[in-house]
Amino acid sequence: MSSNYLTFFGLNDNPFRMTPDTAYFYPSQGQAAALLALEYCVREKEGFCILTGEPGTGKSATLRVFIESMKQTAEIAQIITPRLSPEEFLPAILEELKIPLRSGSKNDMLKDFRDFLLVQAGSDRRVVIIVDEAQELPETTLEELRLLSNLETEKEKLLQIILVGQPELRSKLLVPSLRQLNQRIAVRVRLERLTPSESSVYIGARVNQGGNSSPLYGATAKSLIYTLSGGIPRTVNLLASRSLMAAFLDGSREVGERHVRRGADDILEAGAKKAASRLRVAIYLTAALLMAEMAMIGFHLTRSSGAAPKTSIIKALPQRGVGGSFSSAGVSRQ
Ligand SMILES: Nc1ncnc2c1ncn2[C@@H]1O[C@H](COP(=O)(O)OP(=O)(O)O)[C@@H](O)[C@H]1O
Ligand SMILES: [Mg+2]
Repeated sequence: MSSNYLTFFGLNDNPFRMTPDTAYFYPSQGQAAALLALEYCVREKEGFCILTGEPGTGKSATLRVFIESMKQTAEIAQIITPRLSPEEFLPAILEELKIPLRSGSKNDMLKDFRDFLLVQAGSDRRVVIIVDEAQELPETTLEELRLLSNLETEKEKLLQIILVGQPELRSKLLVPSLRQLNQRIAVRVRLERLTPSESSVYIGARVNQGGNSSPLYGATAKSLIYTLSGGIPRTVNLLASRSLMAAFLDGSREVGERHVRRGADDILEAGAKKAASRLRVAIYLTAALLMAEMAMIGFHLTRSSGAAPKTSIIKALPQRGVGGSFSSAGVSRQ
C-alpha cells in the first residue's frame, strides 16, 4: 500500500493488512475468555484442551497472543503441518523442542522426551504441544497424541496439549476410536463471531493502532461492515480495507456506507472470478476423467474381460460464504 494513501488518512501503517501482528490484537469478549481458558489449562496442568471456531474467527490470532504470553513459563511445540502420520509426529515435536535426535528408534525418542519433560517439571516449567488446524490430524495421529499424554508422574501430568481447529474437530473426536481421547478433554472453548458492537470497536481499535485516533469509519459504514461480514474478523478486515481504498479513490477522508458498498462489490467481483476459474478447472477435469473412462471402457470391451470400470468420483467445489448468528464464546470445563 502506498505511503500516499496512508498519509491521506493520517495512518503510519495499514490497519487491516492480513499479516499476523500481535500489536493489532484487540480481544473480543470471546477471545479474552478463550485466552483465560487456555492459560487455566496450562497453569492447572490439565491434559487436553480444545479451541474451535469457524474459519476467520481469530483462532490463530488468539493462539499467537497466548504463545507470546507463555514464552517465559513454558516450552512450546507448535505443530502447523497437522497432516503428520503418527511416525512423523514425535520427531516433529522433538525438533520443535530442540531435543536432539539420538536415533530413529521410537524407544529412544520416547525416553529422551520423557527425560526432557521431567527436567522441565523439575524447574516448574510447562511443556505444551499446540496443533493448529487440528481437524486435519489423522485419527491415528490423534491416538498417538493420547498415548503421549500418558506421560505423567504419580502426581501430575507432564504434558499439556492444545488442539485448535474448525468446528468439525469436535465431531471428529466423537468417533468411537477416539472415545478415550475425547473423555480426556478437560477444557473446551468455542470462539464465536463478533457482536455488532464488538465489530465496531474492533474496527476503531485497529485504526487507532494504525496511527489515526479520529473516527475514520462512520457509524453506518461500520454497521454495514458488520452486516456484510457476519462478525467474522477476517471478513471485517477485508471489507474495512477495501472500503478504505474506495474512500481514498473518492477523495474522502471519512469512510461512508457507499465506500463499504463499493469495497464489497470489488470483493464479490474478485470472488466471482475465482469461482469461475475453479468451475473451469472442474469442467476440464470432468471432461478428462470422462475421456479416460471411455478409453478404459473401450479397452475393457476390446479385451472382452467383462469387468465394468469403477465410476469416478468428482469432488465438489469448495464452499464459500459467510453469515449466521453470533454470541459470546462458549467455554466449558469437564
Ligand atoms: N481480536 C483480534 N484482534 C485483531 N485481529 C484479529 C482478532 N481476531 C482476529 N483477527 C484477525 O482476523 C483475521 C483472521 O484471524 P485468524 O486468527 O487467522 O482466524 P482463524 O485462525 O480462526 O481462521 C486475521 O487477520 C487476524 O489477525
Ligand atoms: Mg487459523
